[in-house]
Amino acid sequence: MKKILTIVGARPQFIKAAAISRAIKNSFSAQLQEIIVHTGQHYDDTMSQVFFDEMQIPKPDYNLTVGSASHAVQTALMIEKLESVILKEKPDFVLVYGDTNSTLAGAVAASKIPVPLVHIEAGLRSFNKKMPEEINRIVCDHLSTLLFTPTLAGLNNLIGEGFNVQTKPPFTADRPGVFHCGDIMYDNSLYFSEVAESKSVILKSNDLEPGHYILCTIHRDFNTDDPLRLNSIFTALNQITADFGVEIVLPLHPRTSGVLIKHLSPELYKATFANPKIKIIPPASFFDILVLEKNCKMVMTDSGGVQKEAYFFKKPVIILRPETEWVEIVENGCGIICNADLNKIKDAFQHFSENQNRNYPSIFGNGNAAEFICRKMIG
Ligand code: UD1
Repeated sequence: MKKILTIVGARPQFIKAAAISRAIKNSFSAQLQEIIVHTGQHYDDTMSQVFFDEMQIPKPDYNLTVGSASHAVQTALMIEKLESVILKEKPDFVLVYGDTNSTLAGAVAASKIPVPLVHIEAGLRSFNKKMPEEINRIVCDHLSTLLFTPTLAGLNNLIGEGFNVQTKPPFTADRPGVFHCGDIMYDNSLYFSEVAESKSVILKSNDLEPGHYILCTIHRDFNTDDPLRLNSIFTALNQITADFGVEIVLPLHPRTSGVLIKHLSPELYKATFANPKIKIIPPASFFDILVLEKNCKMVMTDSGGVQKEAYFFKKPVIILRPETEWVEIVENGCGIICNADLNKIKDAFQHFSENQNRNYPSIFGNGNAAEFICRKMIG
């Protein structure tokens, strides 16, 4: 029996962890034991508990309740608390997901003890080190003993950084195992999409007609904390509703709702909240976001996960960032990088509205990434 200590902390990690926990419970409970640690990076019910409830993720064995703080303070607090838990539990592996501060803290704490580190969603790069996530993922990849990339682009990025791809054990941090296995978020979207449709009332409660609304999410600091960018994006939202008569639903991250009054011009703030076609709602649960994605006309987002889920449900995506880690989505013509540029956003909306013929080849695997990862951890 191998003991895995899984570290989660932020909303997308709860979703990713659900796939591995489910695979262990259903297929590998004789070989793998999982201890879950929640760092407490996300703590609001709408950002945390609701995901555990919906996806029936086991209750975390530890909650470190670190909460929000500057990057350095938040990460340092996590490292300190994680070290004690890892020393106490003595796992065979520490497992981390993605690129958040919880990922970085887990990577540093584990690799200094040292306990072998497993990184799921390895190899992704934006090539923009102004993003805290880019720093987190580079450090984490280079400390890992097992790396699992969701896409071929991820694998190629690692090769480009000098990883000598090994697929035969023994693996160590100096001779890591690197595997391209598909995306565990795809596993989850397949698994939960039907039950989400039967349980969610999000369309009805917001009076949304399938195929006739845009799903928009905005939470990246470079958008929320830059008034110029935020005003440009919200001007685009208002103009698109006026020019094309389409509705926009906007489940708002707490970071974003906190800054609208501060950063939008008074006129734009007033116009946005008076616009009956812009529906601002609280952060959506996983089931609600799946239903919103599956039934929308188009997605507009600065999130990585929402870009992918748009693709899973064959919806075009307007990317509110200067670049993306999910380059295949853009290469296939299913996403357009618009940054926060008013004209680019409007042009992309028009382009996707007028051109309906798109192919969505399978670039995120076959929905079995979690089983593959479990097998490799068993060795
Ligand atoms: C983090 C991740 C980001 C991921 C996102 C998913 C880092 C560096 N970034 O960004 O990669 O896409 O999670 O949502 O780790 N807040 C609340 N309630 C909460 C959590 C946060 O009000 O439950 C507010 C606080 O004001 C906090 C701010 O949101 O300061 C930002 O939260 P934080 O966890 O630092 O980063 P995210 O923007 O959520």
